[in-house]
This record gives sequence, C-alpha cells and structure tokens, in this order.
Amino acid sequence: MAPLSGFTDLAYRRTAYRCGCRYAFTEMVDAASLAYANGNGEVLLKRGDDEKFLAVQLVGADETLLTKAALKLNERDFSLLDFNLGCPVPKVVKKGAGAALGQNIDHALRCFEAISKVSKFPLTAKMRILDENDPEPTLKLCAGLAALGAKALTVHGRTREHFYTGEVKFSIIREVQAHFPDIPVIANGGVNSPETYRQMRERSSCSRVMLAQGIMGNPWLFRELAAGSPPPTLEQWRETVFFHVSEMIALYGEASAMRQARKIVHDYLKGRGFPAALRAEASTLTVLDDLKRLLDRAEPVQTSGTIRKILN
Ligand SMILES: Cc1cc2nc3c(=O)[nH]c(=O)nc-3n(C[C@H](O)[C@H](O)[C@H](O)COP(=O)(O)O)c2cc1C
Repeated sequence: MAPLSGFTDLAYRRTAYRCGCRYAFTEMVDAASLAYANGNGEVLLKRGDDEKFLAVQLVGADETLLTKAALKLNERDFSLLDFNLGCPVPKVVKKGAGAALGQNIDHALRCFEAISKVSKFPLTAKMRILDENDPEPTLKLCAGLAALGAKALTVHGRTREHFYTGEVKFSIIREVQAHFPDIPVIANGGVNSPETYRQMRERSSCSRVMLAQGIMGNPWLFRELAAGSPPPTLEQWRETVFFHVSEMIALYGEASAMRQARKIVHDYLKGRGFPAALRAEASTLTVLDDLKRLLDRAEPVQTSGTIRKILN
C-alpha cells in the first residue's frame, strides 16, 4: 500500500492488513516538522505492535533538516526509510521537495546521501518518471540512488505535471527494472482492478506493484488481486467500515476521529450503488452512533450478494 497523505495512519493500515495488505508506509512526514518536533508527528509515526512491516516516508529538500529528521527517526523502529521524490502538491514543491527535488537530480542525490550517512534503516526512494518520452533522466536519477545504496525504487509512471491521473508510461518503469535487475522496482500508477493490475505487471515487467487510489474505499482489492477473492458482501463491507472508524477513534478520540472519518466513509460509499442521500449523511457524522445508523440503513439501490465497486 502506497503512502497516502491524510489517509494511511495506523487505522487505515490495520484495515488494509485485514484485507490482505502486507507492506505499508506511513504517510509522508515533513523533515522540518520532525527535526523541530512540532505538528502531529506522533500520530503519523505511530507503529502498532501488530505491524510486522512498516516503512516510514520522509519528505524534504534541506540536507541539514533531513539529517536531523533521520536521526530522530533512528530513535524509533521502522522496517525501512523511504525518501519522497514524487509529491507534486504545491506546499511541497514550493519548498523544492518531492517532485521538484526529483527533477533536480544532483541535489536529490545529495539529500539522499545525507540521510544515508546517519540513518540506521535500509533506504528506498519513491519517484515519478521525469520524462514520459525519454527514459534517460529517470534512469540517471535511479542510477544515482542505486549507487548510494537504495534497496528498492518505487516508480510512479506519471510525470509531475499529471499529478495523480492520466496515462501511465509503463515503458519507462520497464526500462528502470531492466537497467537495475538487482534492485526491486515497485511499479505504481493507475492500478484499481484485476485488469489494470495484470496490465501493470505485464507492461512494466515488475513483479511488485504499489496500490494507492485503487484501494481508497476498496481495501478488499488487495485480496482480490493476490488471491482472486470476490468483492465484499454487504455484511463484510459494513463490518470493515465500522472497524476502520473504531480504530480511528482509538487513535484520535471520538470527536476528531468522526470529523476525519467523513471523507473515509464517503470513499467507502462511492461507486457501490448506495443512494446519494447516504453520502450527504456521511458529511455530517459526529458520533459513532451516527455511523451505526448510517451502516444499518445502507442498502445498495440494486444488487444483492457482493457489492462490487463500479470504476469510472
Ligand atoms: C490523497 C493522496 C495522498 C498521497 N500522499 C502521498 C504521500 O504522502 N507520499 C507519496 O509518496 N505519495 C503520495 N501520494 C501518491 C500515491 O502514493 C501514488 O503514487 C499515486 O496516487 C499514484 O498511484 P495510483 O494511480 O495507483 O493512485 C498520494 C496520493 C493521493 C491521491
């Protein structure tokens, strides 16, 4: 499961594990907030006793801050540290970090090296392709990261300009895997169904795939892809949504959790044939009892048995 800012907290990950996910990331954690220990770092970094594997993701573009942040992370227990070289959102790229840093290869490598000098964790990086018509810039960045000891590379097959939508350039991901046969390359972008998963595996030639938007509101996709399991029944759907929000309450307390749960419940409702009124109701959830009432009344307009997500 991909790092997803505002989503992949412990509650989200526990829900994903129950649905077959095995490898997960924290959302990106800003080096400056970590270095100066302000903001909501504690919850973002919280690892459950039950989490066998957890990668932490760091974002930033200042070598001194990244060094400080990496030293702070050394006080904790993670399976690996992933460096973000792909985030395109304005608040990140305006500081020269994320996708902006990925495009500035020399500086990106200096930052990665600074982290590698102090971190006790195996290091990986997650990037976007740098040019959709020419593999060379992407390969140059990957070669530098590999030379600095990157243990795996996640390649999102879209450029910075395409944010999270649009065509995925499988051929560039394929070139990366071909050039670095000894490094696991994790292919990412646009996988939201068995068909798109098959296409990604075949066209990128990667045996590892990272899921992101495809599992938002649809964590059952992990098992569907790994084991061919059917989509959830209405009862399984209800139980999972309730589990997810209950875990959020354990993390944040009821008032804050229910506010945050509105977007989560909205994702679970989307595309499954529920009446529009339920989605409106999800925007007003305030206490857990509101969710219980919503789930009790949730009946898809048509269909019985499993409730497949309709992709648009
Ligand atoms: C809401 C949202 C939050 C994201 N947060 C992060 C993040 O914290 N770190 C990161 O590397 N990528 C982040 N991404 C990018 C995803 O990990 C992934 O690379 C991207 O969505 C493409 O995969 P997909 O087409 O399967 O969704 C985020 C994407 C979305 C939609």
